[in-house]
Amino acid sequence: MKSSWNIVLVGFMGSGKTTVGREVARRLGWSFVDTDDEIVRQAGKSIAAIFADEGEKHFRCLENRVVRKLAAMKETVIATGGGVVKNPDNLRLLAATGVLFWLQLEPEEIHRRISGQRIIRPLLKVPDPLGEIRSLLRERESYYAQADFTVNANGTVDAVACMIIAKMNGWRGR
Ligand code: S3P
Repeated sequence: MKSSWNIVLVGFMGSGKTTVGREVARRLGWSFVDTDDEIVRQAGKSIAAIFADEGEKHFRCLENRVVRKLAAMKETVIATGGGVVKNPDNLRLLAATGVLFWLQLEPEEIHRRISGQRIIRPLLKVPDPLGEIRSLLRERESYYAQADFTVNANGTVDAVACMIIAKMNGWRGR
């Protein structure tokens, strides 16, 4: 598929942005990038280590810098970190060159998925992760909802990827 747009996946931690994004890119023959991977590569340490050593504020600066760079790409599927939408500058940059898809999922399912993963999410290293997921989701929902499309992320990777590609095929710009 030829396009001058990117596909940008936003949504809460554990909603499958990276897995689904890779599949969408594979099917379209596009490139794939993940903002977290890019941050880790540039910082030379894990997300958990960045949060522990320099704090969230510094992480958000690195994230914004990466978004600036990735938004300049073309025919790329960009999977973003769950908190990318908190900075309006990020949303503006990503929307200028990309079609935004919100991978929406219920807090209980997010919790179930995250509990089964080895990856450390510093924001969820709290006594009540499900409560924290609910509260962060409430805070962020209106930002995620600014995406061009909302996709139910409950299906299989294949099903969610197909849905995104179908919506992208019908995309005529905003
Ligand atoms: C974050 C989500 C994480 C990562 C960091 C902060 C967030 O990415 O960027 O731990 O604020 O929601 P994933 O959404 O890929 O887990």
